[in-house]
Amino acid sequence: EKGGFESFMDKEIHDQPQAVADTLRGRTDADGRIVLDDLRIDEAVLRSVDKIIVIACGTAAYAGHVAKYAIEHWCRIPVEVELAHEFRYRDPIVDAQTLVVAISQSGETMDTLMAVRHAREQGAKVLAVVNTNGSTIPRESDAVLYTHAGPEIAVASTKAFLAQITAAYVLGLYLAQLRGNKFPDEIATTLDELRDMARKVQTVIERGEYVRATARSMKDADKVLFLGRHVGYPVAMEGALKLKELAYIHAEGFAAGELKHGPIALIDDGQPVFVVVPSPRGRDQLHSKVVSNIQEIRARGARTLVIAEDGDDDVRPYADEIFWIPKAPTLLQPLLAVVPLQIFAMALATAKGLDVDQPRNLAKSVTVE
Ligand code: BG6
Repeated sequence: EKGGFESFMDKEIHDQPQAVADTLRGRTDADGRIVLDDLRIDEAVLRSVDKIIVIACGTAAYAGHVAKYAIEHWCRIPVEVELAHEFRYRDPIVDAQTLVVAISQSGETMDTLMAVRHAREQGAKVLAVVNTNGSTIPRESDAVLYTHAGPEIAVASTKAFLAQITAAYVLGLYLAQLRGNKFPDEIATTLDELRDMARKVQTVIERGEYVRATARSMKDADKVLFLGRHVGYPVAMEGALKLKELAYIHAEGFAAGELKHGPIALIDDGQPVFVVVPSPRGRDQLHSKVVSNIQEIRARGARTLVIAEDGDDDVRPYADEIFWIPKAPTLLQPLLAVVPLQIFAMALATAKGLDVDQPRNLAKSVTVE
């Protein structure tokens, strides 16, 4: 069943191009318009939505954090992202104009299910973004948008994360189409870019050996930091989560802009820090700000492990290691940038002799609150 791979996780990392492609398949008609047949929420209701709240746990919540940037940008609807267990117990403000998006690989996570029930009791519409057909969360939701990642066996989520981002982006583009926020040709172009991501994810996987070799050389690390900005921030948090889950190493993801407000105190000689660098072609000087962050931490002794776009020569002087990823629009970069972080965590755990498919104390699906 592992198809010749050394673990399910390794196989599932290699399944990721397919997961992205399959999640996009069949979502457009002959005119290139997005059609979501499985969505059973009235279009008029979706047009009247004035707030979106994403609820999820773990990796699925980080997919939600990524989606917030894209959906707000495309649809101009405020998006909140909240851990399902926090949402449920804080008297959240939801009403009939609120669209709650519940993201879950298994569709069985009890914390997420309880939040779904609570949201519906308050009159919100709930749309489930779920990987497992016929599971409980979609059954109890108003609508479902399935991710088509195929069964995910390894406890630590990989391909489901890419599929969740992809599905949430399709949802964002659909809402933009429905509400007239974007011209049809802009939506078609973004969809084409999204379709092209499967090929680029494959490229990142093919470059995995260098990441593995780096991980093997770092098996004695006892704490690893991850920095990212904009959509790279949730990627940093997901990279840290993978390392905690698989290698039992204390890891934390930070917003790069927050560095000087605290985390830089953690930097001392040899401290490994991953940095996800935004596209140099993006707006808002995000790229140069993050390059300055790399320079600052390196000056304080950090060992910098940089994820950067092909051709981004600005990072070279400050990077101890560079993991190159293909060029992509800023909002789509997470689908590429997370892959070296997954491979790194898996390879480091393997080098420590750990079971990457069944990490200690964790369950694939947590069906208790
Ligand atoms: C955790 C799993 O218990 O639940 C994580 O170990 C997962 O990998 C999280 O991200 C949420 O699970 P689900 O099935 O709701 O996406």
